[in-house]
Amino acid sequence: MFSNTMQLLGDRFRHAVRSSFGEECPFDEQWIKPCNDPKFGDYQFNGALPLAKSLKKKPRDIAETLAAAVDLADISEPLEIAGPGFLNLRLTNAFLSTALTSIPAEQNDAEYDRLGLQFDGETETVVVDMSSPNLAKEMHVGHLRSTVIGESVARILEFAGHTVERVNHVGDWGTQFGMLITHLRDVNPQVINDPDSLAISDLEAFYVEAKKAFDSSKEFADRARQAVVQLQGGDEETLAVWRAFCNESLRHCHAIYDRLDITKLIDRGESFYNEQLAATVQELTDAGMVETSDGAECIFLDDFKNRDGDPLPMIVRKSDGGFNYSATDLAAVRHRLREVGATRLIYVVGIPQQQHFAMLIAAIHKSGWATSSVRLEHLAFGSMLGPDGRPFKTREGGTVKLKNLLEEAVQAARAAIDKRQGGDEEGGRALSESQKRSISEAVGLGAVKYADLSHSLTTDYRFDMNKMLSFEGNTAPYMLYAYARIRSIGRKAGIDFDKLPSDAPIEIEHDAEIALAKMITRFPEVINQIVRDLRPNVLTEYLYELSKAFSRFYDRRHGVRVTDAEPESTRTSRLRLCQITARTIKSGLYLLGIDTIEQM
Ligand code: ARG
Repeated sequence: MFSNTMQLLGDRFRHAVRSSFGEECPFDEQWIKPCNDPKFGDYQFNGALPLAKSLKKKPRDIAETLAAAVDLADISEPLEIAGPGFLNLRLTNAFLSTALTSIPAEQNDAEYDRLGLQFDGETETVVVDMSSPNLAKEMHVGHLRSTVIGESVARILEFAGHTVERVNHVGDWGTQFGMLITHLRDVNPQVINDPDSLAISDLEAFYVEAKKAFDSSKEFADRARQAVVQLQGGDEETLAVWRAFCNESLRHCHAIYDRLDITKLIDRGESFYNEQLAATVQELTDAGMVETSDGAECIFLDDFKNRDGDPLPMIVRKSDGGFNYSATDLAAVRHRLREVGATRLIYVVGIPQQQHFAMLIAAIHKSGWATSSVRLEHLAFGSMLGPDGRPFKTREGGTVKLKNLLEEAVQAARAAIDKRQGGDEEGGRALSESQKRSISEAVGLGAVKYADLSHSLTTDYRFDMNKMLSFEGNTAPYMLYAYARIRSIGRKAGIDFDKLPSDAPIEIEHDAEIALAKMITRFPEVINQIVRDLRPNVLTEYLYELSKAFSRFYDRRHGVRVTDAEPESTRTSRLRLCQITARTIKSGLYLLGIDTIEQM
């Protein structure tokens, strides 16, 4: 069966440890590691040292006992003991062959190609809080990362069998809406009777106009403040105008989500929790967690101090009685735990909100709302900077709209494709206009997503169109091309990859075959690692290594013959390896939110 090799080894070693040293003996899955240097083998068991400590024995003796006890005959070559007691092992070709041969011929899930992988362990309901722009304005480049990272993490969790709810915690409440409602009433009075007719072509300009009116007219400002009071008081007409505005703003967001192929995001903005705020704070008050300080209701948490070393409060209710951002987030956690039934809450929000989430998480732990098995994680990320390494701004110093950035990337991809035409691999075959258009869309958007996900989360990175559209290096075009190229091998040889006999054994003998097979079998480990620590760049690195292993395998000089391999069984075996590699790349790219294309 195609399964997680590291997990399999973990099971075997756990069994060996317990049968040698007693059922109570400690065991840690982390003792199995891939070897850093293939010279030593593929995996290493490094538990002999910690075991030696707790069992008060020599590491070398432990290693020898385990080497004799562990049953790995169907997995690896005989173990080697290295250094003070590391056990190194090398997968056998037979193991690789069995694993790969067991991969079903076709994808058997409508959305994900799991290559026959089964993920065991408990499945959870996970809430991924992602994207979450402020509806008062247009989505800008600053919203890219949360959207792209959130979607990838959500897909990977779903792939591994978890139930995921993607929540768009949009900013749809607060005083700035008084200003927007008032301006909307002025310029668009028919909105009250016909809210669906509302169309604001440029939300950003609309915001600027409203702000200008607010700053220049006292009469307007008074009406705006009045609108806030009416909104909070639940005045029907005011709510209708507010709702019309928010829906229009959400339409703008969803145009972007559709283009980015983000289809399962649930809009559940801050206003959704309004009714729950008082009860939320009351519950915390009853638990003795809320104190009044300078008229405001605050939660004080250990370890949170301001610059002067004084306790730093988490304010939940301001002195004017209004609940704030923190109160909304507390209510949202309560909802996610109790109504959604989530046991893992992931917040994909930039580093600047680190303190807010650290306090939120500490407050939840203190409240006792979450059992100890519940995880709350702030998946903090760094900024996407402009090409000059400074905050991303337009030439005039304004914010860059996300939709413009995406369009620009697609245009640049189109230009690159037009330039490449002629030197095309498949005999200079000209692409039709509609093909060019869909390829540019896939390449341009794929490039933006891939570039974002291939950086480690917490570092800032520069938006560099040339680099992300390059066919060299760890980029989307490189990966998409690697995929399309494998698919074209089938086309050129006149074979339908998807119709290869699924029971034909995959033979693993040649060095290049071995290396490729080992890379493919690492796929489940990569997924598991990301499920644990939520770093999608582990997947981009993996895919890059996988496609390099494929290039070596397919290389005329260093690799093997494929379409003209003999005998027929070897040819079929290698073609199946091609197909499985292509599927792994496709599946992996899909987990990054990227669609593959059959030809480029
Ligand atoms: N709307 C917020 C902002 O633009 C982000 C919300 C993040 N999610 C949350 N649950 N607080 O900064």
